[in-house]
Amino acid sequence: MTATILDGKAIAARLRAEIATQVAARGAAGAAAPGLATVLVGDDPASAVYVRNKHKACAEVGMHSIGIQLPVATSQAELLGVVAELNARADVHGILVQLPLPAHIDALAVISAIDVHKDVDCLHPENVGLLAQKGRQPRFAPCTPAGVMHILQVASIPLAGANAVVLGRSNIVGMPLSLLLVRADATVTIAHSRTRDLAAVCRAADVLVAAVGVPEMVRSDWVKPGATVIDVGINRIADPAAKSGSRLVGDVAYAEVAERAGAITPVPGGVGPMTIAMLLSNTLRAAEAETKEPR
Ligand code: GUN
Repeated sequence: MTATILDGKAIAARLRAEIATQVAARGAAGAAAPGLATVLVGDDPASAVYVRNKHKACAEVGMHSIGIQLPVATSQAELLGVVAELNARADVHGILVQLPLPAHIDALAVISAIDVHKDVDCLHPENVGLLAQKGRQPRFAPCTPAGVMHILQVASIPLAGANAVVLGRSNIVGMPLSLLLVRADATVTIAHSRTRDLAAVCRAADVLVAAVGVPEMVRSDWVKPGATVIDVGINRIADPAAKSGSRLVGDVAYAEVAERAGAITPVPGGVGPMTIAMLLSNTLRAAEAETKEPR
């Protein structure tokens, strides 16, 4: 079997075009452009690239964005002050504090200080709590997990009653994605570094999501024939044959798994492009909620 390729890049492009249309309609109706604020502390080059891409994406869909860059020595009190200012700004509907933060800052304290209505990352404990409780209506879904769910939905992958295995239990991906899969009525197993016989656990999956950050860890004999495999990993590995000397791979051994899976996301061009699209979607949602029910 050769797997269907789930083209996240194309799915994200369609979603961004839809968001641009909705932003334009909002503008035509006299509402303010949705606004996203990012806060970057320190000079980690990868984080700087991620943040730059978020601003570029905002501009492309007609959203307004502000980027606040703070030195690595910024104190927690100063950062909390910046978050408080952004909470108070009427032109800011979404706030994203880029992680990781420097070690001297308590990330939980900072995330907990973000106005829950502007928490477009869905990392605030209250918003995670809404996600985790049956019968609650979460304000947002966290961006990368929501991107995975959007791909599954567009590809019409059945989730109700399906065995979903999520490899990885991070706060940003594994844990919240597991909650979204439960909400979609999947039977969810969260597997991790302490799981016994990981290969056998993964082989039981109808939907297998890898989010561990270990290059090409999932091999074809970990995959049930015909399963849907979603690769959240983005790992740079040395490749002397590449011009740059390196290349990106996922957490899944793509070539061999694609021979066995029913559907698979590539890296790059799978889940990656979805994250920013969902951030835009959440920012639009925050702006719409504010227009409907001004606070
Ligand atoms: N760093 C890596 N991924 C993320 C994310 O989804 N949100 C934030 N705030 N920081 C990140």
